[in-house]
Parts: sequence; structure tokens; C-alpha cells
Amino acid sequence: SEIYRAGLSGTRPAVPVDPAALEAAARKALPAEAFAYLAGGAGSEATMAANRAAFARWGIWPRVLRDVAERDLSIELLGRRRPTPFVLSPIGVIELAHRDADVAVGRAAAALGVPYVLSNQASRPMEEVAEAMGDGVRWFQLYWSASDELNASLVRRAEASGCEAIVVTLDTHLLGWRVRDLDLGFLPFTRGQGIAQYTADPAFADLVRRRLTRGGGGGARPRVTPALLRSALAIARSGARTPLVEGGVRAALRSPVPRAAIETFLDVFANPALEWADLARLREWTSLPILLKGVLHPADASRALDHGVDGVVVSNHGGRQVDGAVASLDALPGVVERLGGRVPIILDSGVRGGADAVKALALGATAVGIGRPYAYGLAVAGEAGVREVVRNHLAELDLTLALAGHRSIAELGPETLRAS
Ligand code: FNR
Repeated sequence: SEIYRAGLSGTRPAVPVDPAALEAAARKALPAEAFAYLAGGAGSEATMAANRAAFARWGIWPRVLRDVAERDLSIELLGRRRPTPFVLSPIGVIELAHRDADVAVGRAAAALGVPYVLSNQASRPMEEVAEAMGDGVRWFQLYWSASDELNASLVRRAEASGCEAIVVTLDTHLLGWRVRDLDLGFLPFTRGQGIAQYTADPAFADLVRRRLTRGGGGGARPRVTPALLRSALAIARSGARTPLVEGGVRAALRSPVPRAAIETFLDVFANPALEWADLARLREWTSLPILLKGVLHPADASRALDHGVDGVVVSNHGGRQVDGAVASLDALPGVVERLGGRVPIILDSGVRGGADAVKALALGATAVGIGRPYAYGLAVAGEAGVREVVRNHLAELDLTLALAGHRSIAELGPETLRAS
């Protein structure tokens, strides 16, 4: 009601409330390459459109004359009561939106009591974000690397940084066919962007050292440390920001350490050979709850249960991976049916406000992930922009719940909706 009253009494918000206007404001605030990377999807972007269309096919079916004066937005998730049903989905290379990057998002998330899923492709190391978040709830999202030493090290660091769960993203064992980025010739990782988790990692430093000494009979062994990697990559990144972008990057990459770091990253980033049986190793590396992100098929939901996972994230990566993939919300009911309430289900991809969240929760999601909108908020107004975007989601959720005749998330169910 605070947001609503301010809005109606002439106070203009820091970021547009309307999702399309928010995206347009981010486009205006950012260089073309950065916006293309954040906003784009795979191929014809059919899945991106399908994600939105799926929400439009459900109507909320309001009930009347039910006391809704007191409302409760809290949920139970991974054994803890959370004040809201939202989480912030992991977004890599978020330095493209704002220089404060993951640190600003972490502060905003902590201020609002919303769990933040720290990306494997973050722009700031998890230790730095954890410190900025204080006791704010964070999880770590892992891209399963081809190097198990690196995987185990990332997971160890996540535990030490106070992350409360590991989210393994399974839909990005290769990078999708991103037409906007291809047309601009833009892959941020080759400029040293979005690889801060790696350059802060001792196991990664080891891999880079091995690459530098490979076949180098008898030469001096370079001492590659996380500190050295971070400064080498900082040079590559500042090259990326100079007006002579390409020249700057090329100059930085002529020096062997940043080049070896980027090449090593490209080698080990993902493991397309990963199989269900490999999950057992993750269990050995950590005692934290394990969630699988990118589960869309009911048969995979069943297999996830067989492998004892602690939760799934129904997601098509915001339509950035398989163009033509089923809409995330359309995949939700099948997954809900197979999991039968035994483990939590988070839904993301296409959520653009509180009314969307009501639909996902009514269809059986335990919680809802916000993606691009918070990155746009960050681009437009930094940490305050992220806070405002999340608060708008919360305010609209609260209002929609009340106007539809419900007092709590727990009251939502299939009877809340009607297919339209
Ligand atoms: C992502 N997403 C993502 N997911 C993940 O597991 N690790 C990551 O590093 C990233 N990085 C990333 C970057 C950008 C620019 C975007 C837009 C998305 C996917 C993200 O977690 C989430 O699934 C989608 O953003 C949800 O779709 P919407 O709501 O953005 O449409």
C-alpha cells in the first residue's frame, strides 16, 4: 500500500512499474551489446514469446465476500519459513547492467528477505557478494564444469560463503543459439567478463598454470594465483571498456595469463557428457540441499526424485537455450503431478509481475523466480532499482491475492484459475 499510495499521489518511481516500459528504460540506459545480451533469447525467440503467452492463457477467477483484510505472503521453502514466495534467479555477466553488479543485487535481495541465487557466471566472486549480503539468504548456482576439481572447489567455497543450497543448471551444457549476440559478434566471456567465480578459485588457477606449462619442457613454472588471475582479467575487462574495444581486448589477451585464463574457462565451462549418475559425486562434495534447474519434462522430474534431489527449478532459461522449447508455465503442471509435493518446485521464465506469480503458485509452484526484470532495474537505477522491481512484484502479488479473494499463498490452487 506504501507503493500504491506514493504512486497515486504524484511521486514518480525510480524505475518504471510497467514491465515493457522497464525493459525500454534498460535499453535506453545500456550500450547495444549489453542490452542484446540481457534481453535476447535463442533463435527466433519463439520460446521467449511462448513463456509470456502461457501466462496469458490462464485467467485468475476471483472470489468475493471473503475476509481478506489480513494477508500472509510467506511460504515454506527448504525447511524454512520465507517472508515471500520470490527468489532472484541467477543472472550471469550482470556487470553488463551496472558496475556494482552482483553486489548491488545481493544487497537488494538481503534488504527484502528474498533468496538470491548467485550465478556461476557472476561478475563478482561469491565471497564478496556474501559479505555484502550479511545474513541475507543466498544459494549457489553451479554450471557443472568439465573439471571435477573446479566443481568441488566451487561447492566448497559456496558452503564457506554461507550459501544454503546448490542449484545445478542443466540446460546450458552448451550455449544457446543467441542471434542478437551473434549479429553483434559479442561473447562477453571472451572479454574476461562474467568469469569472476573462476578467477577467484584456487582450483581454476591450477588449471591455468597447467595450461601455461603444457609441453613447456624445462621453462620456469609461472606462479598462477587467484590474485594474479583477477588482476590479469581486470586488465582484459578494462580493455573491453576502452573506446578501442577490440584493440584493447586483443592487447590484453596477447599477454599469456589472461589469454590462458579465458581459454581455460572456454575449455572447462561445461560438460555436455554429464549424466544422471554423475549427480552422486555432487552429493559427496556437499551436504547442502541440491536443486536441479532446467527441468521441464515430467519424466525428468521423476528421475530427479529417484536421485534424491531436494528440489527442482522448472525453467527454460528465459527462452535463451532451446528455441521452440515448451513454455515454462506449460511444463509446470506435469512436473507438479510427478513430484506430488515431495520436494519444492520453483518456476521461472516469463514472470513479469505479481499476477504472474499468483498463476504459477496456483498451478503448484512453491516459489517463483524473477529474472530479467531485476537486471533491468539494476541497469536503470542500480541497487535501488533492483529493490523497487522486487517490491513492485510483492505489492502486485499482495494486491492480486486480496482482490481475488485469498488471504495466503497456501489458499491458491487449480480452482483459483480458469483456462481462457
Ligand atoms: C540468465 N539465466 C541464467 N541461469 C543460470 O542458471 N545461470 C546463469 O548464469 C544465468 N545467466 C543469465 C543471464 C541472463 C542475461 C539472463 C536473462 C538469464 C537464466 C535465469 O536464471 C532465469 O532462468 C531466466 O532469466 C528466467 O526468464 P526471464 O524471467 O528472464 O524471462
